[in-house]
Amino acid sequence: MPKVRLRGIGIAYDDVGSGPPVIFLHGFPFNRSMWREQQEALAGHHRVITVDLRGHGETDLAASPATMEEMASDVEALMDHLTVERAYLVGLSMGGYVALTFCRRFPLRVRALALADTKAQADTEEAKANRRAQAKQILREGMEPITAALLQKQLTPETLTTRSDVVERVRAMIIGTKPEAAAAALEGMAERPDQRSFLSRIISPVLIIVGSNDTITTVADAELMHHEIGGSRLEIISGAAHLSNLEQPNEFNRALAKFFADLEQ
Ligand code: MLT
Repeated sequence: MPKVRLRGIGIAYDDVGSGPPVIFLHGFPFNRSMWREQQEALAGHHRVITVDLRGHGETDLAASPATMEEMASDVEALMDHLTVERAYLVGLSMGGYVALTFCRRFPLRVRALALADTKAQADTEEAKANRRAQAKQILREGMEPITAALLQKQLTPETLTTRSDVVERVRAMIIGTKPEAAAAALEGMAERPDQRSFLSRIISPVLIIVGSNDTITTVADAELMHHEIGGSRLEIISGAAHLSNLEQPNEFNRALAKFFADLEQ
């Protein structure tokens, strides 16, 4: 497992395959292993880089809050380290918040952007308060007490009842996340600014993906981004909730591969 010290922390990542680089940014509270199916599907034609965002997986936590800005700067530093000038950037949920932030700050380094199960709006005051309460609970009691509720929200009822492999994989990522890191990310997400006004200024091609049953970042949130980002493409994946890449990997991979292939022509 490569791990490099950048910006004062050890950052863990995988870098496989060759071709136009694609960087994957995971959601909360997960890690880069959630992209296994995408890594396998794309590495034949792409250099696939998956990274553990600060505090998650095997990457160190610096300080709380772990803001989307800090995470975007970590990604930029990793690109410098790997001498990747421009890349396709794929972010799911929190990874999408980071990808949008990255695109706003470093637009010339983004060949194209895929925003999956994410949104441009900031948290409402109520959502911020809920995150802060959850951060306190996690620091007090660990990840276990929030795991069942998180699973219910992230996956479809069908996946929850019939696909124990997916459920166990997601559960293991949640339980494996350090409470301090999860709390720091919750604080960081609560602080993130509203990015709606930036959408119409994105200069890269954009693909938006959303699970048809996503209740955390909904089809309406995806449609809002699609409406604001000129020329963007929208793919709604049926039979998926929030973790569309894990619940329907074939459809997710097909949408990504087609998007990239059309751009490479
Ligand atoms: C995620 O999957 O990254 C989270 O659900 C994002 C969020 O809580 O806003």
